[in-house]
Amino acid sequence: MIFGRIKPLDAILATAEKKSLHRSLGWFQLTLFGIGCVIGTGIFVLTAAGAQKAGPGLLLAFAIAGGICIIAALCYAEIGSMIPVAGSAYTYTYTTMGELLAWTVGWALILEYAVAASAVAVGWSGYFTGTILNQTLGIHLPAWLATAPLAMGGSPGGLINLPAVIIALLVTWLLMIGTSESAKVNAVLVLIKVTALTAFIVLTLPSDQFDAARFNPFLPAGLFGGFGSGVGAVGAAATIFFAYVGFDAVSTAAEETKNPQRNVPIGLIASLLFCTVFYMLVAAGAVGTIGGQPIMGPGGVPFPAGSEELARQCALPQHAQALVCSNEALAHVLRQIGFGTIGNFLGYAAFIALPSVILILLFGQTRIFFVMSRDGLLPEKLSAIHPKWKTPYIVTAITGGAVAFAAAFLPVGKLADIANAGTLYAFMMVAVAVMILRRTAPNVKRSFKTPMLWLIGPLTIFGCVFLFFNLPLEAMLVLPAWGAVGLVIYYAYGYRASHVARGIVETNPDLPADLTGIDYPH
Ligand code: ALA
Repeated sequence: MIFGRIKPLDAILATAEKKSLHRSLGWFQLTLFGIGCVIGTGIFVLTAAGAQKAGPGLLLAFAIAGGICIIAALCYAEIGSMIPVAGSAYTYTYTTMGELLAWTVGWALILEYAVAASAVAVGWSGYFTGTILNQTLGIHLPAWLATAPLAMGGSPGGLINLPAVIIALLVTWLLMIGTSESAKVNAVLVLIKVTALTAFIVLTLPSDQFDAARFNPFLPAGLFGGFGSGVGAVGAAATIFFAYVGFDAVSTAAEETKNPQRNVPIGLIASLLFCTVFYMLVAAGAVGTIGGQPIMGPGGVPFPAGSEELARQCALPQHAQALVCSNEALAHVLRQIGFGTIGNFLGYAAFIALPSVILILLFGQTRIFFVMSRDGLLPEKLSAIHPKWKTPYIVTAITGGAVAFAAAFLPVGKLADIANAGTLYAFMMVAVAVMILRRTAPNVKRSFKTPMLWLIGPLTIFGCVFLFFNLPLEAMLVLPAWGAVGLVIYYAYGYRASHVARGIVETNPDLPADLTGIDYPH
């Protein structure tokens, strides 16, 4: 029976009760935290892949993806305020739909967090090699050290993305020794990112080089590119969805929030609305100044972003300056329109701020593994805490190694699409869980209730499924393949070792640090 082993809601709530972190966060800090998690490789780098899929329709893609995230956020706000514990979508599924589905969600969250961390590491590498090494120091890293192999959609001559490996390992090490980002550092990094994007908007939109004609044709690859093609405005939305990934971390901070009824939804919605508007303005600035038409392949269909064919096209001199070919899209636009120095500053901003996004994602991943192993679904050894560093160092090291490995050999667009596939599945399950809990636990206190849940819930499910089916086919296929591997592991291990199966009800959370990776003053 699919709903077989359900973790009792009471036990989970008791966990939350016991932990009861000090409530110190207000809506402004939550919004800053949300923006800190969200703005990263998506806007700084994937703007190029988005334009290759949709052309100027990229603006519409940002609106579609942002809209779906906002309704998903309303579901997260209710469940996060009701069950404010670590593990997020995994825990919510465990208590509503049972262990088997919870395992599949936890397994899919690896794609959301770990693969997304790889994608951000590769995005960072683009700015590091472009702005820091080439533009500032005049060092040209050989292609074989700077990008993934061509066959994977890297560049001709590419073999391994060494800078991405190094940053992934460095952040892993920081997490292992117990680094958590201070709220002040997060606020400063948000300020740096927002200043960089504001400068971009201010320099591009009113620029002499802005020409509305560049928005024609607006949808060169159509609205829908077709199932599995990953192109068109909706195909771009499925990719650019990555630019919003991470906001769900805000819901995990519900337990540390003052008046969560009001502040959690404000934090979630405000950070997403802010990012949606900003992203659309940035996309308009990029397309309006240097153009963003895709490089078309046979039959007038854009070459797939992150494909070997596109990488070969981008190596041709006539495409060298195209937006869709740049590894550091936003800095590239500013350089093209004569703001080379400010373009470099934007590159420095990405260089400084993106590692913090990797840190938050990796932190989220280790906490999910931690909760899964605490539930007995993964070996308990994994959640062992280091005596001196007080961190789950084993799981952190394994995760970091895997993140570095994926970052070494895959291009950013492919990694982002795979991360999106897992995230969309998790978001969908959260929407289902909220609706189930309204029926099964109507009296448990929720400090926030999703308005019009019976409309918003199904719409979220529809939006997630819709975006999923507009991902490129290979990214779509990763989810069932990954899920199949997960099921083998579940039946080989977790099925028998599960604490719920063995009647062990865990109420001591024993979490070594707060839930967000940001160290708030208590
Ligand atoms: N949304 C985050 C980013 O774009 C993951 O980097």
